[in-house]
Amino acid sequence: MTQDELKQAVARAARDYVADRLPVGAILGVGTGSTANYFIDQIAGIKDRLGGTVASSEATAKRLAGHGIRVLDLNDVDAMGIYVDGADEIDGSMAMVKGGGGALTREKIVAAVADTFVCICDASKRVQTLGGYPLPVEVIPMACAYVSRELTKLGGKPKLREGLVTDNGNLILDVHGLSITDPGGFEERINQIVGVVTNGLFAQRGADVLLLATADGVQTMHANPAS
Ligand code: A5P
Repeated sequence: MTQDELKQAVARAARDYVADRLPVGAILGVGTGSTANYFIDQIAGIKDRLGGTVASSEATAKRLAGHGIRVLDLNDVDAMGIYVDGADEIDGSMAMVKGGGGALTREKIVAAVADTFVCICDASKRVQTLGGYPLPVEVIPMACAYVSRELTKLGGKPKLREGLVTDNGNLILDVHGLSITDPGGFEERINQIVGVVTNGLFAQRGADVLLLATADGVQTMHANPAS
């Protein structure tokens, strides 16, 4: 199977997961990226069961609306049962690196509201140690050079993502050369740098469920095996 076929397979599995577990009329959070796009196409078939969706980016909102799926402002939502999103890397503790699509801040906000974070990805995203994929950091533009120097002190090699302005009007520094052995601590440390909006480590609020597409089928893993 190609990587694209694996993404489509996990998108179908995620649609079934949502259809089976999200009460009719409840709110669904929707992530950003190519895997999330396949998921959006799948949930078009169950849109009448959804009370509405909250999008983690302008691109996702546009795709949802294109399918006639109701998109709500997060400020109008009191509760969200499930958030479904892809990842650039995920480790054995369900900590992730996200933000390859530049939507990390809104993704983190929507994920914070959801009861259950369902990560959907193909097997290539599963890693022993995070950091092989450059870690995205969203930065207020005037702080870019300062934050870059601070990230270098932490052992990374930050590179400005050319030509990208986030949905929030900020810049992205992609930090190369990291081997992240304490994802929760490193997430907190980077967020303490003045001028950082947030970073793409999703460790303090990691995934609760992982749907992982492999050549042998889609595997389901739980952060808390009792759940
Ligand atoms: C978007 O900003 C990211 O967090 C995506 O979830 C991540 O980059 C995965 O994208 P793909 O599904 O395109 O690999």
